[in-house]
Amino acid sequence: MPTPLEYAHNNRDTFLTELIDFLRIPSVSTQAARDADTLEAAHWVARAMTSAGLEHVEVIETKRHPIVYGDWLHAGSHAPTVLVYGHYDVQPAEPLDLWETPPFEPTIRDNYIYARGAADDKGQLYVHVKAVESYLRTDGRLPLNVKFIIEGEEEIGSQNLHEFISHNQTRLAADSALISDSSILGIGKPALVYGLRGNCHVMVDVTGPGRDLHSGSYGGGINNPINALAHLIARLKDEQGHILIPGFYDRVRPLSAEERELLARFPLDESDWLRETGAPTAWGEPEYTLVERLSARPTLDITGMYGGYIGQGAKTVLPARAHAKISMRLVPDQDPNEIIELFRQFAHSVMPPSVKIDIHGAGGSRAALIERDTPPMRAAAAAYEATFHHPAVFMREGGSIPVVNRFESDLGLPTVLMGFGLPGDRIHSPNERFYLPNFDAGIVTSIRYLGLLSQAE
Ligand code: BES
Ligand code: MN
Ligand code: MN
Repeated sequence: MPTPLEYAHNNRDTFLTELIDFLRIPSVSTQAARDADTLEAAHWVARAMTSAGLEHVEVIETKRHPIVYGDWLHAGSHAPTVLVYGHYDVQPAEPLDLWETPPFEPTIRDNYIYARGAADDKGQLYVHVKAVESYLRTDGRLPLNVKFIIEGEEEIGSQNLHEFISHNQTRLAADSALISDSSILGIGKPALVYGLRGNCHVMVDVTGPGRDLHSGSYGGGINNPINALAHLIARLKDEQGHILIPGFYDRVRPLSAEERELLARFPLDESDWLRETGAPTAWGEPEYTLVERLSARPTLDITGMYGGYIGQGAKTVLPARAHAKISMRLVPDQDPNEIIELFRQFAHSVMPPSVKIDIHGAGGSRAALIERDTPPMRAAAAAYEATFHHPAVFMREGGSIPVVNRFESDLGLPTVLMGFGLPGDRIHSPNERFYLPNFDAGIVTSIRYLGLLSQAE
C-alpha cells in the first residue's frame, strides 16, 4: 500500500484532469446570468468531496449561492478538528478580449494552467480535497478530524456565509481553520499570511434631468450628474492618497514600532513588483512604506464609473445619470458599517441640490490580524519548510477574505492562511493562472500539515 504522499504523486495527472473539469464551470457569483453555473460548481465540489471520502456531504441552500459542507470525524475525540475553508465562486472574466485563451477553457502553457479561478480559489481549495483523498485511499483514515466548508459568495462579500456561521456554531466547531486562498512570495518561497484587510463597497447613483438633454440648448442651465459625481470623487481623496472623508481614520489602530520593523524586513523587491503591474511608478501616502501601504493602511478606490454616451464618436449630450462603484479596504479596528455611514454623510453634505444622489452600501467585512505564535502556525511553517526547503515568512496581505474575521470572533478559531498562489497569478485579471508545481506542492504540504497539526500543541 502506498503512503499518502506516494498516492498523491502517483495520481497527479488524474488530479489535474479533475481540476480542469472544475475550471470549466463559469461560477461567477456576481452575475445572475451565471447562477445555474454557480450552482453546478457547488454540486461539482460536493461530488468531489464525496469521492475523496468525506462524509455528510451536503449542498446547503442560502438566499443566494449554496454552501458545500462535508466532514470526516473518525479520528477520535482526543484528536483535534480542522475546519477547511475555500470558495468555488470566481470573479467576472471580463474584459474577455484581453485573454490569450478563453477564461473557461483551461489551457496549460509552461507549467501554468490558465483559467478564471485557477488560483482564486478553485486550484487552491482542491489541494485539500486531494490531500484528504490521499489519506483515506491509503491509510483509510485521517490523522485528525476535518470539516470542509466551501462557499460560493466569497467574491461578493460572504454575507450568507456569515449568517450560516452564526446559526451553526456547533456544527462548525473546530480547533483551528485552514485556508488556501493567498499567495506565497515567489517560486519556492512560502509565506504565511497573518493580516488581511477588511472591505466595504458603495454604489453611487447621481441623477439630474429626467432624460438626456441637448448639451447646447440646456448646458449652463442644468447641472450635469457626471460633473457633479466627478466633483464628489475628487473630494474623497487627495493626490497623495489621503482619504478626506471626516472620521474615516478615527478607528485606525496605529502601527506599532515593532510591526513597522517587521514589515520593513519584508523582502518585497519593489522594481520586480512594479514591473509586474505595468504602471510607470509606485504611488501612495508618502509617510508610509510601500509594504505598509499595500497591507496595513486603508484605501479608497473607484472600481468603475459610467454614464453618458460611451459609444463610438462624439455625442453632444447632457446625461441624465452618472454612476460610480467605490471600494474601500479597511484595517483594524475600522467597522465597515460605520465607514459606509461616514461616506453617506459626507457625500450628501457635498452634493448640490441641483442633482440627486443615491447611495447603496451593503455588508462589508472587518480586517483580520492573526496571532503568529500558535501551534497551528508553527505546524504550518514546518509543513511548508519540509516541502519547499525554504523557511516561511509572515506577511500581511492587502486583499480581503471576509470570513476570516468571523472565524476568530464567532468561532474563536486560530486561522492558518497557507497559500499556494504566486504574485504573478493575475487573480481578478485577464489570463489568471496557477503554477502547476504549486498545485502538487500544495497537496504535499496539506498532507504534511494535517499530520503535524494532529500532534501540535
Ligand atoms: N483570494 C482573494 C483575497 C486575496 C487576494 C488574498 C490576494 C491574498 C492575496 C479573495 O478571493 C478576494 O479576492 N477577496 C475579495 C473580497 C471582496 C470581494 C469582499 C477581495 O479582496 O477583493
Ligand atoms: Mn479567493
Ligand atoms: Mn478573489
